[in-house]
Amino acid sequence: MDRAVVVVAAGSGTRLGIGTAKAFVPVAGQLMLARALAPLFTLASPTLVVVVAPSALLEDCRQVVASVAGAAVAYTAVVPGGTDRHGSVQAGLAVLPDSVTSVLVHDAARCLTPAAQFARVFDAVAGALDAGALDAGSLDAGAGAGAGAGAGAGVDVDVGGVVGFVPALPVTDTIKRVSGDVVVETVDRAALVGVQTPQGFPLDALRRAYALSAQSETDDAGVFQAAGGTVRFVPGDADAFKITTPWDLGRAESIVRSRSGSGAGGAADPAAPVRFGLGVDVHAFDAESPCRVGLLDFPGEPGLSGHSDGDAVAHAVCDALLSAGGLGDIGGTFGTSDPAYAGAAGDVFVRGAVGLLADAGLVPVSVTVQVIGNRPRIGARRAEMQDALSAAVGAPVAVSGTTTDGLGFTGRGEGLAAIATAVIRPV
Ligand code: CTP
Ligand code: MG
Repeated sequence: MDRAVVVVAAGSGTRLGIGTAKAFVPVAGQLMLARALAPLFTLASPTLVVVVAPSALLEDCRQVVASVAGAAVAYTAVVPGGTDRHGSVQAGLAVLPDSVTSVLVHDAARCLTPAAQFARVFDAVAGALDAGALDAGSLDAGAGAGAGAGAGAGVDVDVGGVVGFVPALPVTDTIKRVSGDVVVETVDRAALVGVQTPQGFPLDALRRAYALSAQSETDDAGVFQAAGGTVRFVPGDADAFKITTPWDLGRAESIVRSRSGSGAGGAADPAAPVRFGLGVDVHAFDAESPCRVGLLDFPGEPGLSGHSDGDAVAHAVCDALLSAGGLGDIGGTFGTSDPAYAGAAGDVFVRGAVGLLADAGLVPVSVTVQVIGNRPRIGARRAEMQDALSAAVGAPVAVSGTTTDGLGFTGRGEGLAAIATAVIRPV
């Protein structure tokens, strides 16, 4: 096999903030990693696939790869990643056999990248290798500036004259150069593109570029150029965006849902009757626990007790979604004492409920949740909480808050309550 893809999936997903390695977060009911891998096994040319995973999740990763690859699992490998993307790419490149001539490096976080984009980048690399071979054939060895320098050059020389390819899209926003909070000037966007993955190179040249690299770059083309290589671009695809923040995750989920609907473009069937659900949850305060409410951290506030993270808001939303679908409740579905959910973030339950609804052919339309208690005060962070919950639900979530005028357990500051409603529709 002369083609390979290294999929880097060893990142922790700090900015996503779910507490699970990013590639192992579900996107509309299927793990991000599984979605990222699926197109690779539909490519016309046989392709080796190396997945670089967090070292603690190698076995989980192998299972995901096996389930997506089917019989092609024989042409896959899973290796542990490095401390940064740079190190993870190197770990992937290290295990490729020398029979590989073209390698693509791809972010698992760009999990909706279509197969056509992989094919486009592979074809560009193969075309450049063929052209290089032709040029080299028509010249005496060593003559001609850089021609055909891709294949077979020594391990310690730079990659001058070798060409790599990145998928790129034009920039649509007006871009400004700034200094502090001062806008200095408009940058000519005609000269700018946004760059995606997979990025493709001749394997031996990319290995040499990584071996030479002195500083960490944010992409492979940066490493390749630093070593003297030339990088060209081919058209990218809007679907190849990188999931970095909860908003990106919500965007990916709505794209998937809108395409999996029965009719063109519609996730929910507007003619089908809606269903309503109700969820209530209460947790007592526990000063020893970190405070997590509505999927947000509230540093310095007393936390909530519970088998999971005690996020009463997320649990009420989960219960509202389950009840709307007639799917029972959070305790019966996820097990209030199941060790698998010890300390689990509320997000896991909300996404789990959305996944179960999807399995039943149902999608959330909207959710409301009211937080009842003296603290934490949610007013200043209402928009943020709505965004985080909306990303998990895949539909708008409205958050409101109230106290109980000093009455009852919430008024006495003993605990926090939340009441949620959900509206769902058949797909
Ligand atoms: N990556 C990796 N090894 C690392 C860091 C990142 O394989 N040590 C991968 C990620 O899994 C991802 C890609 O590189 O597919 C792009 O990185 P990024 O979007 O930054 O992902 P994370 O590092 O997981 O996210 P964050 O920076 O928010 O922690
Ligand atoms: Mg990162």
